[in-house]
Amino acid sequence: MEILIATHNLHKKEEIQQILGSEYIVTSLSDYNLNDEIQENGKTFQENARIKAEYCFEKTGKPSVGDDSGLVVEALGGRPGILSARYAGNHNFKKNIEKVLEELKDEPNRRAYFITVLCFKDQDGEHYFEGRVYGNITSEVFGDGGFGYDPIFIPDEYNLTFAQMLPEEKNKISHRSAALKKFVEFLYSRRGAL
Ligand code: IMP
Repeated sequence: MEILIATHNLHKKEEIQQILGSEYIVTSLSDYNLNDEIQENGKTFQENARIKAEYCFEKTGKPSVGDDSGLVVEALGGRPGILSARYAGNHNFKKNIEKVLEELKDEPNRRAYFITVLCFKDQDGEHYFEGRVYGNITSEVFGDGGFGYDPIFIPDEYNLTFAQMLPEEKNKISHRSAALKKFVEFLYSRRGAL
């Protein structure tokens, strides 16, 4: 069975291929020369994930997955949230981090979580899978691994930021892998039911 992922990111495609195993063929937008900029204008992670999955399904008719992720900070009323990638500057991780740290400067409540929502769409409809990882925002940056807000996020039960962990350590507990695991369980249970 083929599953089309709404991404140009080969790393994301390979991560999903590894998790799904060789019974699934994971393809991405580049395999179909789909180069339109998908308008992520939803108001929730779910809506944005669905917009991406629908785009792929409508263009190709293949079972498709869209995903949307972000950082949700309690004391900021949920921001940066769906604006995570462009909070201060478009995909400018340094500026985005600086903005969050500045906004939390005198704030004792550092609670936050990362979230990933996946939307799977095929001829039978849509299914959503959500993964979260809870933790705290630091008061300065630590570590240079990972991407995005990794240098300012310490997951619960750890004393390192995501940027100080090995990628495989982060992947074990990340919001993305939690959502993917639920998706894989769904695929397996559905296969069992056929
Ligand atoms: P995307 O939906 O996977 O493209 O994620 C949107 C934005 O959320 C990214 O540009 C990052 O700023 C942030 N983000 C999502 N996942 C992570 C993560 O695992 N670590 C750090 N930042 C993340």
